[in-house]
Amino acid sequence: MITLIKARNLSISFNGKTVFKSFEFSLREKQFLVVIGPNGSGKTTLGLLLAGLIPEFIKAEIYGTYTISGKTGMLMQNPSPQFFALTVKEEIGAALPQGVGIEELWEKSVFELSEGEKQRVNLIANLCNGMDTLILDEPLELLDPFQANRFLKIIKSFKGKKTILWLDKDQGFVESEGKIFLGKSLQKFPKRRKHSIGKKLLQAEFSIKREGFESNNINLKLYEGEKVALIGLNGSGKTTLLKAIAGLVPIKGIVELQSNFSFSPQNPDHIFFENSVQQEIGSMQRMRFFGLQQLAKNFPERLSKGQKKLLSLASLQQGQLYLLDEPTTWLDVENKATVYNWINNSREAFLVATHDRKLLDYCDRVLLIEGGELKECSSTTVKRFFRAGL
Ligand SMILES: Nc1ncnc2c1ncn2[C@@H]1O[C@H](COP(=O)(O)OP(=O)(O)OP(=O)(O)O)[C@@H](O)[C@H]1O
Ligand SMILES: [Mg+2]
Repeated sequence: MITLIKARNLSISFNGKTVFKSFEFSLREKQFLVVIGPNGSGKTTLGLLLAGLIPEFIKAEIYGTYTISGKTGMLMQNPSPQFFALTVKEEIGAALPQGVGIEELWEKSVFELSEGEKQRVNLIANLCNGMDTLILDEPLELLDPFQANRFLKIIKSFKGKKTILWLDKDQGFVESEGKIFLGKSLQKFPKRRKHSIGKKLLQAEFSIKREGFESNNINLKLYEGEKVALIGLNGSGKTTLLKAIAGLVPIKGIVELQSNFSFSPQNPDHIFFENSVQQEIGSMQRMRFFGLQQLAKNFPERLSKGQKKLLSLASLQQGQLYLLDEPTTWLDVENKATVYNWINNSREAFLVATHDRKLLDYCDRVLLIEGGELKECSSTTVKRFFRAGL
């Protein structure tokens, strides 16, 4: 079988800072290979190199040798900047693919898609575009359990037909022919603490009418110190709901908040103002708590995706209520544990939109948003949701 990509003794640095060293790697035609590494280990850097974006568009110092045959496409970790066209139909640029759940998005503008929907469209566009090798940078990260399952099925159906290199931070998603490690993740999660819950902090009763999302009956109370998770499928309105509470989207009704709050958006790109991680966070103690001291002098926009996500949380203004949109997306096991610790040991209240099942273990209540309705969620419904049987 033909070897499409080969790397020998490959090392990469940015401005003299080594990302990885002496990496050995080869990818045969129609092979399905997974590269696993924690945040900052260089997965995305490797992908960008193999897709030809480094050094063509992004400068880096490369040592050792590597060869690439055929066309290589990459599904980026961040779906938004990848679109070339205005509509989903134009972006895919082929006949409507069947059985991949794209029908309902076909005529939509790419700007109207939720983050998860964008990722779905990207994945399908990449699978349809005749590349020899497809690099997938954490392709399931933004998908709800239902979409993730659907896509695992699609990707599995391409096994043995396409050459696929999958980059991820753990290996619990799919069986592959081979696994290569770029670094090591630790596995240690904190024990759940009992939270003390105080008086009412938030009362919200409102309706929202927006393109793609409508709800007549949002009714939500939150108490001091309470940790509440918000789950729902891609596009169900989790982000809209958080933004409504934060006053960022128009509503009809009331949002009564008894305290100040901080809102952390889902995507940590272009949200930093300072020139270093240290300046962005401000407090040394907080920087240490989030394990970011090694990156203190780094420029925030140049961090890896997971590092940016962690920084976006570490640099939040402290208030009595945190509104977090997918706080553990892109985080490796160790950084996830840091976030669980933070939520678990904080006296503040949290309302957290999430797909991370483990995070629910640290929450007092779970709310489900479905068909514009917000409901308290029993543990049976949670189980059903994550089994993708909703
Ligand atoms: N353009 C750049 N300039 C300087 N440093 C960079 C640049 N791109 C990445 N880095 C640094 O290189 C290291 C590897 O980054 P990379 O994005 O490849 O990691 P990753 O394994 O994909 O991480 P994640 O799991 O968070 O996505 C990080 O420490 C990051 O800060
Ligand atoms: Mg990455």
